[in-house]
Amino acid sequence: MDGTEIIAQAQSLAVHSDSTEHYTRTYLTPAHQAAARQIAGWMRDAGMAVRTDAVGNVIGRYDGAAADAKALLIGSHFDSVRNGGKYDGVLGILLGIACVADLARRGDRLAVAIEVVAFADEEGTRFQTGMLSSRSLVSGFDPGLLDRRDLQGVTLADAMRAAGLDPARAAEARIDPSKVAAYVEVHIEQGPVLLGEGRALGVVTAIAAGARHLMTVTGEKGHAGTVPMAMRHDALAAAAEMVLAVERRCSAGGTLVGTVGILEVKDGTGNVIPGEVRFSVDIRAADRETLAAAQHDVFAELDAIAARRGVRLEGDRTHDVRPVPCTPWMQDLVAAAIERTVGGGPARRLPSGAGHDAMILAEATDVGMMFVRCGAGGVSHNPSETVSAEDAGLACRALLEMIRSFTPLQRRDSGE
Ligand code: GLV
Ligand code: MN
Ligand code: MN
Repeated sequence: MDGTEIIAQAQSLAVHSDSTEHYTRTYLTPAHQAAARQIAGWMRDAGMAVRTDAVGNVIGRYDGAAADAKALLIGSHFDSVRNGGKYDGVLGILLGIACVADLARRGDRLAVAIEVVAFADEEGTRFQTGMLSSRSLVSGFDPGLLDRRDLQGVTLADAMRAAGLDPARAAEARIDPSKVAAYVEVHIEQGPVLLGEGRALGVVTAIAAGARHLMTVTGEKGHAGTVPMAMRHDALAAAAEMVLAVERRCSAGGTLVGTVGILEVKDGTGNVIPGEVRFSVDIRAADRETLAAAQHDVFAELDAIAARRGVRLEGDRTHDVRPVPCTPWMQDLVAAAIERTVGGGPARRLPSGAGHDAMILAEATDVGMMFVRCGAGGVSHNPSETVSAEDAGLACRALLEMIRSFTPLQRRDSGE
């Protein structure tokens, strides 16, 4: 199977970008819809029946030997972070399509149907709605998100309407888990482990716990020339101290990491004391206890800074995502497929520090993940992100091997 074609497809899909300067594709923009149409076209060419669901996910189905066969879902996402890499998410979709194309070319029908799910909003870049599209499949769309606004002030509800989706029908994206056999996701590793060890592919053991918060600091807007320093309630100076507090607490070691990636001054002007600042807090760890302790300490510190500086701190402090183990028998199936494809002994097993749609699907079905070596020193969420054609070809062969060895009897309710 030809990895060169997969890399070429990933590069051509990146043309559909919100920006002319770099690759950024966010939920429901015209570029995002163009990418969805391109993916749907590739799915059709591969022999799938294609539908777009009520939140904009593109789903291609290749029937199994029996018309009512349960589906093995193969998924990943086609949205991106701002100025991101061209393979994050997209690679897993293209590999799923390539595997189906191979099955269809040979006329092979399996004991399961294959559904390739191209998730529309995993990064949550535009509306701060990470994993919206996989959550909509598994637990239903959350209508509380409809009032969220992007940087231009467009609400999610209006963005859905502009993209031809009806917000009132978004709940229809939910799927019936009894029709699903399992979920598998192939993703670029986004780190340096496989690269450092000279391995093309790996098996994901678990996906780290993560918590994302969007906080608002409200101080007092004022004249930069007239308000004495001791009388100020500068929202940005307070937020700056808070950013460093996140970094300090999350530098405790181990798997704990903390990041502030958004810092916005409302109506920011050079000669005005900032009155309102929004910033994000992203904290992750391999286990829930470490994450919870760090979250607790970080918010205690942020509250103390706010009190000392006489500013108000508001934001959602509750949303957290548990660490999600990949289902043991799915790990073994992915490992066996890698071992048969690349040889060289037991497949490398490693945890994922990044979040993936698989962690949401795990609420509904058994999940497995395969990692593909990330080039360029292992960087991701960065335009330098790369995957080699050779590794893409190996990943494609290993995924097909895994699909062919999959039997619906392995599902969790079989007692395995
Ligand atoms: C997804 O890319 C994440 O934030 O881990
Ligand atoms: Mn990502
Ligand atoms: Mn991703």
